[in-house]
Amino acid sequence: MPSEAIQNLIHSKDGDYLDCTFGVGGHSKKILECLGTNGSLKAIDKDPKVFKFSDQIKDERFQFKNISFSQIEDFYPPLSFDGILIDLGISSFQLDDSDRGFSFQTDSSLDMRMNQSHGLTAYEWLNKAEEKEIADVFFYLGEERKSRSLARQIVNNRKSKKISSTADLSSLNFFKNRSKKHPATNIFRAVRMYINDEIEELISALKSSISLLKKRGKLVVISFHSIEDRIVKNFLRGSLENVKSHSCLKPVGKIIKPSVEEIKINPRSRSAVMRVGEKI
Ligand SMILES: C[S@@+](CC[C@H](N)C(=O)[O-])C[C@H]1O[C@@H](n2cnc3c(N)ncnc32)[C@H](O)[C@@H]1O
Repeated sequence: MPSEAIQNLIHSKDGDYLDCTFGVGGHSKKILECLGTNGSLKAIDKDPKVFKFSDQIKDERFQFKNISFSQIEDFYPPLSFDGILIDLGISSFQLDDSDRGFSFQTDSSLDMRMNQSHGLTAYEWLNKAEEKEIADVFFYLGEERKSRSLARQIVNNRKSKKISSTADLSSLNFFKNRSKKHPATNIFRAVRMYINDEIEELISALKSSISLLKKRGKLVVISFHSIEDRIVKNFLRGSLENVKSHSCLKPVGKIIKPSVEEIKINPRSRSAVMRVGEKI
């Protein structure tokens, strides 16, 4: 969906844009290709490891900052942008990095922080949190019906041996004999979302877009999970809890999903949903 995202985002070639999720810079490079000489692109990402990709972009119209969604209003004044892009989740370079613990496909220590310089690691959290807290994360963020039973198993197992690696988590008896191909997928994602405070960060980015967008500015959000997509949908409808009163962003068009061809090339895109809003 990169081209649909860019088409919906850019409505003025000499406008000012913000890519909130730089990653390896795929979207940012495409945005720069479409901008005129007076256009500008600011990009952010909370993972300092993306510097190696942002440093490769030698373009005067481009500026990168290593900050998170919840900090954008500290760095950019109101009415700064004609378009804001948010491509949620983690980047393939993070998922494939065997030191990060995001994937159960390779065995590594359970870190899961997008910014490894602060915050609790998944290892620290899983080995010290209360059983109920763990169960709640699995239930609400992992949509796991048997969340209590899994949390109980983790708490019992960690008495004799800490849950320290991706293999320790994905090989728990709980996941054996389950019909799904990768039964630990939702649990890994839930832990990652919790460790990185992803729901609060998303809500913060959406709220900030209200002030940061200029009139007729576009907000383009790509999400990979029904919980995130519901938040974006409700936000654009003006019915997101605690942000209820806003009526200055309206949904534009229908939701956009990846084509069959795109899913063949990039199977990870299969659950992507894109929504577009416009500041009125
Ligand atoms: C799906 S990837 C983006 C890929 C990117 N669009 C590209 O073309 O390469 C999401 C990126 O957003 C970053 N990210 C996630 N949550 C963030 C947050 N709250 N603040 C800043 N960056 C965040 C991640 O570190 C990751 O690099």
